[in-house]
Amino acid sequence: MLITPAKVGATVTDVDLRELDEGATQELSDAWAVHGVLFFREQQLTPDDHIAFAERFAAIDVNKFFKASDTHPQIAIVLKEADQEGNIGGGWHTDHTYDQIPARGSILLAREVPPTGGDTRFVDVGAAYEALSPGFQRTLESLQAVHSNEHVFGKTAQYNREMGDRLGNPEGVGNATHPVVITHPQTGRKLLYVNPGFTRHFTGWTIEESASLLRYLYDHIGQDQFSTRFSWGVGSIAMWDNRSTWHWALNDYPGHRRLMHRITVSGEPLSAA
Ligand code: SIN
Repeated sequence: MLITPAKVGATVTDVDLRELDEGATQELSDAWAVHGVLFFREQQLTPDDHIAFAERFAAIDVNKFFKASDTHPQIAIVLKEADQEGNIGGGWHTDHTYDQIPARGSILLAREVPPTGGDTRFVDVGAAYEALSPGFQRTLESLQAVHSNEHVFGKTAQYNREMGDRLGNPEGVGNATHPVVITHPQTGRKLLYVNPGFTRHFTGWTIEESASLLRYLYDHIGQDQFSTRFSWGVGSIAMWDNRSTWHWALNDYPGHRRLMHRITVSGEPLSAA
Protein backbone atom coordinates (compact mmCIF):
# COMPACT_ATOMS: atom_id res chain seq x y z
CA MET A 1 0.00 0.00 0.00
CA LEU A 2 1.35 3.40 -1.02
CA ILE A 3 0.07 6.61 0.62
CA THR A 4 1.00 9.75 -1.33
CA PRO A 5 0.24 13.05 0.46
CA ALA A 6 -1.09 15.98 -1.57
CA LYS A 7 -1.79 19.65 -0.71
CA VAL A 8 -5.07 18.43 0.83
CA GLY A 9 -5.51 14.75 1.64
CA ALA A 10 -3.57 11.78 0.29
CA THR A 11 -3.98 9.26 -2.52
CA VAL A 12 -3.77 5.58 -1.62
CA THR A 13 -2.66 3.12 -4.30
CA ASP A 14 -1.57 -0.52 -4.46
CA VAL A 15 -4.35 -1.64 -2.16
CA ASP A 16 -7.49 -3.79 -2.43
CA LEU A 17 -9.86 -2.59 0.30
CA ARG A 18 -11.48 -6.04 0.46
CA GLU A 19 -8.25 -7.55 1.71
CA LEU A 20 -6.94 -5.49 4.58
CA ASP A 21 -5.26 -6.98 7.60
CA GLU A 22 -5.07 -5.32 11.03
CA GLY A 23 -1.78 -3.59 10.25
CA ALA A 24 -3.04 -2.09 6.98
CA THR A 25 -6.28 -0.98 8.69
CA GLN A 26 -4.29 0.83 11.38
CA GLU A 27 -2.07 2.45 8.74
CA LEU A 28 -5.16 3.72 6.89
CA SER A 29 -6.80 4.89 10.10
CA ASP A 30 -3.68 6.88 11.03
CA ALA A 31 -3.38 8.32 7.50
CA TRP A 32 -7.07 9.29 7.54
CA ALA A 33 -6.58 11.25 10.77
CA VAL A 34 -3.39 12.94 9.57
CA HIS A 35 -4.40 13.80 5.98
CA GLY A 36 -8.14 14.44 6.50
CA VAL A 37 -9.26 12.80 3.27
CA LEU A 38 -8.00 9.68 1.49
CA PHE A 39 -8.66 8.95 -2.19
CA PHE A 40 -8.78 5.50 -3.82
CA ARG A 41 -9.53 4.40 -7.39
CA GLU A 42 -10.92 1.30 -9.10
CA GLN A 43 -12.03 -0.52 -5.97
CA GLN A 44 -14.40 -3.43 -6.56
CA LEU A 45 -16.50 -3.27 -3.40
CA THR A 46 -19.95 -4.82 -3.18
CA PRO A 47 -22.34 -3.10 -0.73
CA ASP A 48 -21.41 -5.76 1.86
CA ASP A 49 -17.69 -5.07 1.27
CA HIS A 50 -18.33 -1.34 1.64
CA ILE A 51 -20.03 -1.92 5.01
CA ALA A 52 -17.27 -4.28 6.19
CA PHE A 53 -14.62 -1.70 5.19
CA ALA A 54 -16.41 1.08 7.11
CA GLU A 55 -16.84 -1.09 10.21
CA ARG A 56 -13.07 -1.57 10.40
CA PHE A 57 -12.89 2.05 11.61
CA ALA A 58 -15.99 2.65 13.76
CA ALA A 59 -19.65 1.77 14.14
CA ILE A 60 -21.88 3.02 11.33
CA ASP A 61 -23.79 6.24 12.06
CA VAL A 62 -26.84 6.04 9.78
CA ASN A 63 -27.83 9.45 8.45
CA LYS A 64 -31.35 10.27 9.66
CA PHE A 65 -32.39 12.21 6.55
CA PHE A 66 -30.90 10.55 3.46
CA LYS A 67 -32.77 7.83 1.61
CA ALA A 68 -31.14 4.50 2.47
CA SER A 69 -30.41 1.57 0.18
CA ASP A 70 -33.41 -0.82 0.12
CA THR A 71 -31.16 -3.80 0.69
CA HIS A 72 -28.45 -2.23 2.89
CA PRO A 73 -29.92 0.38 5.26
CA GLN A 74 -26.43 1.33 6.48
CA ILE A 75 -25.78 2.85 3.04
CA ALA A 76 -27.13 6.33 2.26
CA ILE A 77 -28.03 6.95 -1.37
CA VAL A 78 -26.55 10.15 -2.81
CA LEU A 79 -28.29 10.41 -6.15
CA LYS A 80 -28.97 12.97 -8.83
CA GLU A 81 -31.10 11.73 -11.72
CA ALA A 82 -30.56 13.10 -15.23
CA ASP A 83 -33.76 15.15 -15.04
CA GLN A 84 -33.16 16.56 -11.55
CA GLU A 85 -31.70 20.01 -10.94
CA GLY A 86 -30.59 20.06 -7.30
CA ASN A 87 -27.89 17.79 -5.97
CA ILE A 88 -27.17 16.54 -2.47
CA GLY A 89 -24.30 18.34 -0.77
CA GLY A 90 -24.02 21.14 -3.34
CA GLY A 91 -22.28 23.70 -1.11
CA TRP A 92 -19.47 23.72 1.46
CA HIS A 93 -20.46 21.74 4.56
CA THR A 94 -19.37 19.16 7.09
CA ASP A 95 -21.66 16.21 7.79
CA HIS A 96 -23.47 15.78 11.10
CA THR A 97 -22.13 18.87 12.95
CA TYR A 98 -25.71 19.28 14.23
CA ASP A 99 -25.17 16.15 16.37
CA GLN A 100 -23.76 16.49 19.89
CA ILE A 101 -21.28 13.73 19.02
CA PRO A 102 -20.66 14.35 15.32
CA ALA A 103 -19.71 11.55 12.97
CA ARG A 104 -16.01 10.82 12.50
CA GLY A 105 -16.27 10.74 8.73
CA SER A 106 -17.85 9.35 5.61
CA ILE A 107 -16.78 6.82 3.01
CA LEU A 108 -18.24 7.75 -0.36
CA LEU A 109 -18.11 5.21 -3.20
CA ALA A 110 -18.93 6.14 -6.80
CA ARG A 111 -21.38 3.75 -8.48
CA GLU A 112 -22.40 5.81 -11.56
CA VAL A 113 -20.65 8.98 -12.70
CA PRO A 114 -21.45 11.55 -15.40
CA PRO A 115 -19.16 11.66 -18.48
CA THR A 116 -17.69 14.93 -17.22
CA GLY A 117 -18.15 17.02 -14.08
CA GLY A 118 -19.53 15.90 -10.73
CA ASP A 119 -16.23 16.39 -8.89
CA THR A 120 -16.14 16.89 -5.14
CA ARG A 121 -14.09 19.64 -3.51
CA PHE A 122 -12.45 19.25 -0.11
CA VAL A 123 -10.91 21.83 2.17
CA ASP A 124 -8.44 21.44 5.05
CA VAL A 125 -9.84 23.39 8.01
CA GLY A 126 -6.66 22.77 10.02
CA ALA A 127 -4.51 24.57 7.44
CA ALA A 128 -7.08 27.40 7.40
CA TYR A 129 -6.81 27.73 11.20
CA GLU A 130 -3.00 27.70 11.12
CA ALA A 131 -2.97 30.58 8.60
CA LEU A 132 -4.74 32.94 11.05
CA SER A 133 -2.89 35.33 13.36
CA PRO A 134 -2.26 34.15 16.96
CA GLY A 135 -4.51 36.92 18.33
CA PHE A 136 -7.45 35.97 16.12
CA GLN A 137 -6.87 32.27 16.88
CA ARG A 138 -7.11 33.02 20.61
CA THR A 139 -10.34 34.98 20.14
CA LEU A 140 -11.89 32.15 18.12
CA GLU A 141 -10.81 29.63 20.76
CA SER A 142 -12.96 31.47 23.31
CA LEU A 143 -16.13 31.02 21.21
CA GLN A 144 -18.72 28.30 20.80
CA ALA A 145 -21.26 27.98 18.01
CA VAL A 146 -24.71 26.47 17.57
CA HIS A 147 -25.16 24.04 14.67
CA SER A 148 -28.60 23.03 13.42
CA ASN A 149 -30.17 21.14 10.53
CA GLU A 150 -33.72 22.46 10.70
CA HIS A 151 -33.12 25.03 7.92
CA VAL A 152 -31.78 22.18 5.72
CA PHE A 153 -33.76 19.03 6.49
CA GLY A 154 -36.81 20.50 8.31
CA LYS A 155 -40.34 20.35 6.92
CA THR A 156 -40.37 23.93 5.61
CA ALA A 157 -36.73 24.06 4.50
CA GLN A 158 -36.24 24.96 0.84
CA TYR A 159 -33.46 22.36 0.42
CA ASN A 160 -35.68 19.63 1.81
CA ARG A 161 -38.42 20.58 -0.64
CA GLU A 162 -35.98 20.68 -3.58
CA MET A 163 -34.60 17.21 -2.81
CA GLY A 164 -38.10 15.65 -2.76
CA ASP A 165 -38.08 11.94 -1.93
CA ARG A 166 -34.26 11.82 -1.77
CA LEU A 167 -34.61 13.11 1.81
CA GLY A 168 -37.04 12.25 4.59
CA ASN A 169 -37.67 12.34 8.36
CA PRO A 170 -38.06 16.15 8.67
CA GLU A 171 -39.20 15.70 12.27
CA GLY A 172 -35.74 14.28 13.15
CA VAL A 173 -34.11 17.73 13.14
CA GLY A 174 -32.05 19.02 16.06
CA ASN A 175 -29.10 21.12 17.08
CA ALA A 176 -25.87 21.03 19.06
CA THR A 177 -23.28 23.42 20.44
CA HIS A 178 -19.56 22.98 19.74
CA PRO A 179 -16.35 24.93 20.27
CA VAL A 180 -15.37 27.06 17.27
CA VAL A 181 -11.86 25.62 17.49
CA ILE A 182 -11.65 21.92 18.33
CA THR A 183 -8.77 19.55 18.86
CA HIS A 184 -8.65 16.55 16.56
CA PRO A 185 -9.26 13.49 18.76
CA GLN A 186 -6.43 11.46 17.18
CA THR A 187 -3.81 14.01 16.10
CA GLY A 188 -4.36 16.87 18.56
CA ARG A 189 -4.30 19.34 15.63
CA LYS A 190 -6.42 22.48 16.08
CA LEU A 191 -9.30 22.80 13.61
CA LEU A 192 -11.81 25.50 12.74
CA TYR A 193 -15.17 23.87 13.43
CA VAL A 194 -17.78 26.03 11.72
CA ASN A 195 -19.33 25.39 8.31
CA PRO A 196 -21.78 27.17 5.99
CA GLY A 197 -24.15 24.19 5.87
CA PHE A 198 -25.07 23.89 9.52
CA THR A 199 -23.48 26.56 11.76
CA ARG A 200 -26.18 29.07 12.75
CA HIS A 201 -24.59 31.51 15.18
CA PHE A 202 -22.04 31.94 17.93
CA THR A 203 -23.32 31.06 21.38
CA GLY A 204 -24.68 34.18 23.06
CA TRP A 205 -24.70 36.11 19.75
CA THR A 206 -27.69 36.57 17.44
CA ILE A 207 -27.74 35.20 13.89
CA GLU A 208 -27.36 38.77 12.59
CA GLU A 209 -24.41 39.55 14.90
CA SER A 210 -22.71 36.28 13.92
CA ALA A 211 -23.17 36.65 10.16
CA SER A 212 -20.21 38.85 9.26
CA LEU A 213 -17.62 36.94 11.32
CA LEU A 214 -18.93 33.63 9.97
CA ARG A 215 -18.80 35.05 6.42
CA TYR A 216 -15.19 36.14 7.01
CA LEU A 217 -14.25 32.65 8.24
CA TYR A 218 -16.06 30.91 5.36
CA ASP A 219 -14.30 33.10 2.77
CA HIS A 220 -10.98 32.41 4.47
CA ILE A 221 -11.46 28.64 4.79
CA GLY A 222 -12.82 28.20 1.24
CA GLN A 223 -9.71 29.65 -0.44
CA ASP A 224 -8.02 27.59 -3.16
CA GLN A 225 -4.82 27.38 -1.12
CA PHE A 226 -6.60 25.12 1.42
CA SER A 227 -8.69 23.08 -1.03
CA THR A 228 -8.49 20.30 -3.58
CA ARG A 229 -10.84 18.70 -6.09
CA PHE A 230 -11.42 14.98 -6.72
CA SER A 231 -12.64 13.63 -10.08
CA TRP A 232 -14.57 10.40 -9.75
CA GLY A 233 -14.57 7.20 -11.78
CA VAL A 234 -16.74 4.17 -11.07
CA GLY A 235 -15.18 2.44 -8.04
CA SER A 236 -13.46 5.59 -6.74
CA ILE A 237 -13.69 6.22 -3.02
CA ALA A 238 -13.12 9.31 -0.92
CA MET A 239 -13.08 8.85 2.84
CA TRP A 240 -13.10 12.17 4.64
CA ASP A 241 -12.75 13.16 8.26
CA ASN A 242 -15.63 15.44 9.23
CA ARG A 243 -13.62 17.20 11.91
CA SER A 244 -10.74 18.29 9.70
CA THR A 245 -12.38 18.88 6.29
CA TRP A 246 -15.32 20.46 4.52
CA HIS A 247 -16.65 19.07 1.24
CA TRP A 248 -18.81 20.29 -1.66
CA ALA A 249 -20.35 18.14 -4.42
CA LEU A 250 -20.22 20.19 -7.63
CA ASN A 251 -23.45 20.29 -9.62
CA ASP A 252 -22.14 20.82 -13.17
CA TYR A 253 -23.44 17.80 -15.12
CA PRO A 254 -26.99 18.65 -16.25
CA GLY A 255 -28.76 15.82 -18.07
CA HIS A 256 -26.65 13.06 -16.52
CA ARG A 257 -27.13 10.66 -13.62
CA ARG A 258 -24.69 10.42 -10.71
CA LEU A 259 -25.08 7.75 -8.02
CA MET A 260 -22.90 7.48 -4.94
CA HIS A 261 -23.12 5.21 -1.91
CA ARG A 262 -22.18 6.85 1.38
CA ILE A 263 -21.45 5.24 4.73
CA THR A 264 -20.85 7.49 7.69
CA VAL A 265 -19.06 6.25 10.82
CA SER A 266 -19.37 7.41 14.41
CA GLY A 267 -17.05 9.85 16.11
CA GLU A 268 -16.20 10.69 19.71
CA PRO A 269 -17.08 13.71 21.87
CA LEU A 270 -15.31 16.86 20.69
CA SER A 271 -12.96 18.84 22.87
CA ALA A 272 -12.07 22.49 22.69
CA ALA A 273 -8.59 23.62 21.71
C1 SIN B 1 -22.11 14.60 0.38
O1 SIN B 1 -22.20 15.76 0.73
O2 SIN B 1 -22.00 13.68 1.18
C2 SIN B 1 -22.08 14.28 -1.10
C3 SIN B 1 -20.72 14.39 -1.68
C4 SIN B 1 -20.71 14.01 -3.13
O3 SIN B 1 -21.72 13.53 -3.66
O4 SIN B 1 -19.68 14.19 -3.78
